[in-house]
Amino acid sequence: MNKKTILVTGGAGYIGSHACVELLQTGFNVVVVDNFSNSKPESLRRVHAITGLSPTLYQADIRDKQALSDLFANETIDAVIHFAGLKAVGESCQQPLTYYNNNVYGTLVLLEAMEAANVKQLIFSSSATVYGEATCQQYAEDLSLGAINPYGRSKQMIEDILRDVSAADKINHASFMRTNDLLPHRQLRKWKIVLLRYFNPIGAHESGMIGEDPNGIPNNLLPYILQVASGKLAQLSVWGDDYPTRDGTGIRDYIHVVDLVKGHIKALAALDGEQFATGNCKAYNLGAGMGYSVLDIINTFEKVTGRAINYKIAPRRAGDLAEYFANPALALAELNWHTEKNLDDMLIDAWRWQSNNPEGYE
Ligand SMILES: NC(=O)c1ccc[n+]([C@@H]2O[C@H](COP(=O)([O-])OP(=O)(O)OC[C@H]3O[C@@H](n4cnc5c(N)ncnc54)[C@H](O)[C@@H]3O)[C@@H](O)[C@H]2O)c1
Repeated sequence: MNKKTILVTGGAGYIGSHACVELLQTGFNVVVVDNFSNSKPESLRRVHAITGLSPTLYQADIRDKQALSDLFANETIDAVIHFAGLKAVGESCQQPLTYYNNNVYGTLVLLEAMEAANVKQLIFSSSATVYGEATCQQYAEDLSLGAINPYGRSKQMIEDILRDVSAADKINHASFMRTNDLLPHRQLRKWKIVLLRYFNPIGAHESGMIGEDPNGIPNNLLPYILQVASGKLAQLSVWGDDYPTRDGTGIRDYIHVVDLVKGHIKALAALDGEQFATGNCKAYNLGAGMGYSVLDIINTFEKVTGRAINYKIAPRRAGDLAEYFANPALALAELNWHTEKNLDDMLIDAWRWQSNNPEGYE
C-alpha cells in the first residue's frame, strides 16, 4: 500500500516538529508549510537527525494563495494537520487584528486550497481556551463554548467555520444526488474534520533534540521555570496563592507533547473509520483528565532535576481561572487515545531539552 502523505502546517513549531517525528516514524510521508514566524529551520534539521527522514519543506505563509495552490498541485496530499497559528493570549489582546488575520483568514485560505485540490481530511489544533469561563472544572466536549480573549475566539471562530463547512457537505450532497445520475468519485468526497482541543502541552522529545523554543520572555509556566532553573531568568512569579484550590495556586491539566501528537495519529486513523465514513466534524479533548497546581509543578521539577526554583508569590492575574482540566473520555472511547506519560516524564524531558539547548535552536 502507498504511504499516505500528510501536510503539516506550522510543522517547524513546538508541537508541529514533534508531530513530524511521530508521523515519519509511523510511516507517513510529511510535507511541511511554515513561514518561520515563530520557529527556525533548525527544528526540521533536528527532526531529520532523530528520524533519519526529512519532511518536504515549503517555506511559505498559509495566507499566500499562490504558494498553497502550487503546493497542492505539486504534492499528493491525503490529509492536513493544521498547527500554523499565533498562540500568545496576551499578545492577541494587544494585536487582535493580527491574530484574526493570521489564524482565521489563514485557515480560510488553507480550506479554499484544500477544497480546490479535493483534499478534505483535516485535523485542527484547537484549544481548551474555547471553553472560556465554564462553571464546572472538568470540561467535556459538549460544554457550551465562550472564549474570553481574541486568541481563544480565533480558535472558536475556526471551529464554527469547520462545522459549517462539514454541514454544507450534507446539503450539497443531497442536491447533487437529485440532479446527477453519474457521480464521479471526485465530487463525492466529504469533509472529515477532527477538532483537537489541547489542554497544556509541555515536555519535549526524549532525545532532548527538539522542544519548545519561545521568543523572548516565555508566557507559559514551564518554559519560564526552565529559564529560571538555567539562570537565564532570575525569579518566577506565581500569580496568586489564594485560589480555592488544594494549595491556593492555579490548577491546570498538563499533557506531554509526545502524548499530544500521538493523539493526532489516532485522529488520522479515526478519519478512515465508521465515525467519519459519511463525513463529519467532531471535537475531542486532548488532556490527562487531572490537574496539577503551580506549586506541584515547581516541587516536582525541583525533585526530578535537583535544581532549586527561585519564586515569589504575586497577585492574581486578571482572567486566570482557579482550576480546570479535561474530561478525556471521548478521545478514549472514539480515538482509542489516552495519555501515557506522567508529570515526572514531562519535567525530566523538558529539562533535558533546556539543558542541552540553553539558547534553544540558536
Ligand atoms: N502550545 C500550546 O500550549 C497550545 C495549546 C493549545 C493549542 N495550541 C495550538 O497548537 C498550534 C501549534 O502550537 P505550537 O505551540 O506548536 O506553536 P508554535 O508557535 O511553536 O508553532 C506554530 C508554527 O506555525 C508557524 N506559523 C504561524 N503562522 C503561520 C502562517 N501564517 N503561515 C505559515 N506558518 C505559520 C510558526 O512559524 C510556527 O512554526 C497552534 O495553532 C496553537 O494555537 C497550542
